[in-house]
Amino acid sequence: MKGGGAYINIGSSSSSINSSVSGSGSGSGNGNGSKMTLGKSVKMYLTIFIATTCIYMVLYQYHMSREPFSPSEIGKHQEKSSSSSSYIASYLWSPMSLLMANNSTSNNATTTTAATTTVSNVAQVQGSFGSIQSVSLAAAATRPTQASSSASVGGAHKTATSTSTTPPPPPPATVTSTSTTTTRTTKAKKATANAAKALATSTSMSQAQAQAQSQLDAAHKIRPTFVAASEPPPLYIITPTYRRPEQLAELTRLGYTLKHVANLLWLVIEDANKTNPLVAHTLDRIGVPYEYMVAPMPEKYKQTKKAKPRGVSNRNRGLEYLRQHATEGVLYFADDDNTYDISIFEQMRYISKVGMWPVGLVTKTGVSSPIIRNGKLDGYYDGWIGGRKYPVDMAGFAVNVKFLRQRPHAQMPFKPGYEEDGFLRSLAPLANDEIDLLADECRDILTWHTQTKKNPPAQALNKTRYSNTNLEHIDKLLVRP
Ligand code: UGA
Ligand code: MN
Repeated sequence: MKGGGAYINIGSSSSSINSSVSGSGSGSGNGNGSKMTLGKSVKMYLTIFIATTCIYMVLYQYHMSREPFSPSEIGKHQEKSSSSSSYIASYLWSPMSLLMANNSTSNNATTTTAATTTVSNVAQVQGSFGSIQSVSLAAAATRPTQASSSASVGGAHKTATSTSTTPPPPPPATVTSTSTTTTRTTKAKKATANAAKALATSTSMSQAQAQAQSQLDAAHKIRPTFVAASEPPPLYIITPTYRRPEQLAELTRLGYTLKHVANLLWLVIEDANKTNPLVAHTLDRIGVPYEYMVAPMPEKYKQTKKAKPRGVSNRNRGLEYLRQHATEGVLYFADDDNTYDISIFEQMRYISKVGMWPVGLVTKTGVSSPIIRNGKLDGYYDGWIGGRKYPVDMAGFAVNVKFLRQRPHAQMPFKPGYEEDGFLRSLAPLANDEIDLLADECRDILTWHTQTKKNPPAQALNKTRYSNTNLEHIDKLLVRP
């Protein structure tokens, strides 16, 4: 507002000049110069003097505003002043430029904007949390570099660089989102580099521009205090798996789906007595932050001729892990053979207690879904109800971790067909109106209960015929029961 006042003063001064000059012009124009009294001319000169003084004062103020710059920045100012006279004009007429002059040159401001835009574009391409990534960019400049990609969840999980197949390293005392992104930091850093690269190539970077770029980096270094590097709530994806010919194919497909999701820890739990180096190798290569554990099905269920409670000991092991290491976020049971649209992961992060949504089936029923009537949960649609309170599919619900921790006895029963129902019942008390309805209030299908055809194991390789060939190596990569 002060600036606005200055603007008005300057304007009125100049208009007084104009009127004085035109007044004198008309005075001389009538050819009656002798009539001009001494008093009048003194008045005119006085007006011109005051106006000139005003202009000088403004110019002086402009000069002073540039005083605090260090010598190293003078180069940029030269660049700025060489740009055009419009800079001065904008300085005079725009009160905002008074503020900008104290931060950086107008050219630098433009450069910064351009770079930030590029970076945010790059970041947005990388995922649905692109805007957050670009926001955390400034902070990224001051953070230590992480060589490998790993998410913030946990902080000490195996990553793509790890090849160990031994039990996981001691996990952190608490698994929270406070240890901000490393994956995303790395991504953001890459984005910065890309943006800088793009700038450099597209405009055949002059020395001045290089200087402007380093100024941009410096500016980022001093800004992290007011740049929010917020994280979405963490996701814990519990995936039961077991040894079979299709195992690595299933894990590869699911793993690369999860790779699109930020701030996620993948708990891969095998129904086995020991871990399989081939599984660990596959997980390492995918590069999603993971823990690989084992939880064998109890012998009595293995021996039974009836239906087996598949994946139950694995999921209960996952719940135990969360009780030990997680404090917030959301857990989801993602079987290794199902199909997932990544948008469901972004939606489930914000579930307050339990969330549900439809699951596409490859059966006659076609879908398993909560029924929503008048905006409220009003029963379930499924091919088989079987007296279940929650006749839902394993792929159709997720649970808030804090809520789980408030139900210390919640677990999955070894009861084929009733795993989901038993687990959800064990979360009681849970009212129907406390269940969040995801996927456009259950009008959309974002997860599918799919099944891969069961295959016999691969035959043994003829070692004599294929000795000293690549097939010897490949043969070791196949999972046989
Ligand atoms: C679904 C449920 O996810 C199972 O929990 C449930 O036991 C089953 O329905 C049922 O009601 O009979 P479904 O697709 O039929 O599962 O079974 P699978 O895909 O074969 O197994 C589910 C999960 O458990 C998979 O992630 C699988 O890798 C794992 N699994 C399966 C084991 O860990 N051990 C096994 O012996 C079999
Ligand atoms: Mn399945």
